[in-house]
Amino acid sequence: MTTEASAGELFSEERSAEAVNAAFDNAPDPRLRQVMQSLVRHLHDFVKDVELTEEEWAAGIAFLTATGQKCDDVRQEFVLLSDVLGVSMLVETVNHRAKGVATESTVLGPFHVVESPPRPLGADISLDHRGESCLVTGRVTGPDGEPIGGAIVDVWQADEDGFYDVQRPGSVPSANLRGLFTTEADGTFWFRTIMPHHYPIPDDGPVGRLLEVTGRHPNRPAHIHFIALADGYAPVTTHLFAAGSAYLDSDAVFGVKPSLVRDFAVVEDPARAAELGLPDRFRAVDFEIVLLRSQE
Ligand code: BEZ
Ligand code: FE
Repeated sequence: MTTEASAGELFSEERSAEAVNAAFDNAPDPRLRQVMQSLVRHLHDFVKDVELTEEEWAAGIAFLTATGQKCDDVRQEFVLLSDVLGVSMLVETVNHRAKGVATESTVLGPFHVVESPPRPLGADISLDHRGESCLVTGRVTGPDGEPIGGAIVDVWQADEDGFYDVQRPGSVPSANLRGLFTTEADGTFWFRTIMPHHYPIPDDGPVGRLLEVTGRHPNRPAHIHFIALADGYAPVTTHLFAAGSAYLDSDAVFGVKPSLVRDFAVVEDPARAAELGLPDRFRAVDFEIVLLRSQE
């Protein structure tokens, strides 16, 4: 039996995908044709594999409809669905292979803002000063260890209660726990913030219900988001995860990569704290970010 579709082939259970894919044979864009024909093959395999019932198909359509209806300017339930199915992580990983050299990438998540506020190195991004103080230091380098001065480091994180500023506009200062930093000539950057905590992804919609009925939790381990960009280098979207955080081994969106987990050490050094403008006891973490050259 050939697996090739032939034009005009009528639908049958055995060759359902081939019959449908023949209809896509003349799609003018070859990449779109490849994507659609593969999608059809996998969808048909799935229906046959589980022998999907009509009730289940209707429930699936209702779920996808509700997912679309939950979306608005600030809520993207389809991205959340892609996240909890591990598809966001897979697309990210396939498209940004670190080649054993660069800092590994992870999900962007829905709370990045395009216009993050530029801040001077050393700034405190915690505008409401709630939480355990934390110093983040780091360096952006290229694949041969060369420092990258003038690199942009965009950071954002959730607050003490597990919310991003954009989730509670009006009740927390805008741009709380966000900043856009530019590295020194030696590639270094540093800023003050609070110790991140684990928190749940938005679970008051269809995706949350899916997690609930399948016995999954909605939590992400403690992390700080980073995007690092520099001329001539491929950007990286990643996280810094706190060692010892709950849910490191069961992130609801599968974002954890062991290379991204760091100790947030407890520092009790009043002289150093005074120099940095931090309380006597604070946490400190260092994160070196390695970028590949654009053409690599
Ligand atoms: C986040 O880390 O901000 C996030 C990522 C994926 C889904 C929801 C939240
Ligand atoms: Fe996050």
